[in-house]
Amino acid sequence: MNDEVASIADQDTPTAAPVDATSGGRPTSPDAALPWVVRFAPLVPERGVVLDVAAGGGRHTRWLAAQGWRVVAVDRDTSALLDLVDPPGVHDGRTTDAAADVEVVEADLEEGPWPFPDRRFDGIMVTNYLHRPLLPTLVASVAPGGVLIYQTYARGHERYGRPTNPDWLLRPGELLEAVRGRLRVVAYEDLTTDQPARVQRIAAVAEE
Ligand SMILES: C[S@@+](CC[C@H](N)C(=O)[O-])C[C@H]1O[C@@H](n2cnc3c(N)ncnc32)[C@H](O)[C@@H]1O
Repeated sequence: MNDEVASIADQDTPTAAPVDATSGGRPTSPDAALPWVVRFAPLVPERGVVLDVAAGGGRHTRWLAAQGWRVVAVDRDTSALLDLVDPPGVHDGRTTDAAADVEVVEADLEEGPWPFPDRRFDGIMVTNYLHRPLLPTLVASVAPGGVLIYQTYARGHERYGRPTNPDWLLRPGELLEAVRGRLRVVAYEDLTTDQPARVQRIAAVAEE
């Protein structure tokens, strides 16, 4: 990783107020679930297990769990997810809150092995995160009947702010390419929002 973007955590730091890109760019809370996620999450089978990749502060983990899905949240830094797991002294990584069913997994998705080699998920959510070599693994990890919901910055965003590293910016059509022949595309957008931000996003399902 180069100096310009010493940490992908740069992607945590919006350069402008976060927006609801689906509904015309109105500012939203940084803790709010992205409209793209909210819109397509119903494609996840009821009581299915959703993987929130690079979950960060867990805005999607929390929202999904509140809707009744079981969630596995993975990030290399799970410090902002600690309230979701067991009290001090108990470290099995599963919440004790009966209202939510969340498993928090701390793993480096770029330096370490894929932490879920034997698992498939009914939903995979990825937002504001890109590690290009992981794309085939993510697609292959969608269970039959499940859905991949992905939104992140795309090439062209560099004129508006970070991230500017091309490694973190999707190429035109890249999410479509990633799922081609593997998942059925339900929705895809590649657009500049009012933020402004250049984003690409997809919802694509694995046929049963
Ligand atoms: C911009 S945040 C996005 C968080 C969340 N997906 C969201 O949209 O609110 C990027 C996240 O990627 C995580 N991350 C960066 N590099 C990672 C790595 N190598 N392995 C796992 N997580 C990583 C960071 O810790 C951070 O939580």
